[in-house]
Amino acid sequence: MRYFVTGTDTDVGKTYVSCGLLDVFNAQGLSTIGIKAVASGCIKMPEGLRSQDALLLQQHSSVVLPYDVINPIAFEPPIAPHIAAQQVGFHLTQKNMLEKCSEALNTRADIHLIEGAGGWLVPLHDYEFLADFAKTLDAQIILVVGMRLGCINHALLTVESIQNRGCILKGWVANCIDPLMDYCIDNINTLKQAIAAPLLGVVPYQGDVAQCIRFA
Ligand SMILES: Nc1ncnc2c1ncn2[C@@H]1O[C@H](COP(=O)(O)OP(=O)(O)OP(=O)(O)O)[C@@H](O)[C@H]1O
Ligand SMILES: [Mg+2]
Repeated sequence: MRYFVTGTDTDVGKTYVSCGLLDVFNAQGLSTIGIKAVASGCIKMPEGLRSQDALLLQQHSSVVLPYDVINPIAFEPPIAPHIAAQQVGFHLTQKNMLEKCSEALNTRADIHLIEGAGGWLVPLHDYEFLADFAKTLDAQIILVVGMRLGCINHALLTVESIQNRGCILKGWVANCIDPLMDYCIDNINTLKQAIAAPLLGVVPYQGDVAQCIRFA
């Protein structure tokens, strides 16, 4: 099974939730591979560019693959991937992404979990988006909603776009990234009414994702 983890924005907890999901699958005895197809904001290390997200996904995967296999496209500047790609002359297309991820995707595992970058409609170039890559992967989508003011609009727009592209929304996770958010539960209830896919879990601030997710 392939899951693509997207979010309502950058920094909403896609990696935090993805690592917890990998833990849940591992505890169920499933073999797992976490993949960060494209990462910007990587750190230059002697062994090459390293994304903190990819390192975390690698740590939480039961099938351990070389770094370059699980993060085949890495950019140093912490900017939108299509701009970072332009800067180094890399042709960022869904076809290239699929090729670069093929080793990880072709490695046998029960679960391939691919974390996006930023939100659902992050551009790859003039007319392709990360959403197109998710669609090509034929992955089920998991949406992480970073619970903060404005998230209802972001979540509903994202859900609408996921559905318009004919992708399957497996479910969504309410990730409480703002401990001071007013009426957080009311916001979650509003989204529950409006999203025609299961709420997989509510993750409290600094909560243990694996304890909060119900994944059938
Ligand atoms: N439920 C939570 N409680 C406390 N901190 C959280 C929670 N979820 C995420 N964080 C923290 O918020 C920050 C952003 O989370 P994370 O890196 O998972 O976001 P992201 O959506 O993966 O970002 P990116 O778009 O850069 O991939 C991290 O420091 C993470 O530890
Ligand atoms: Mg991340």
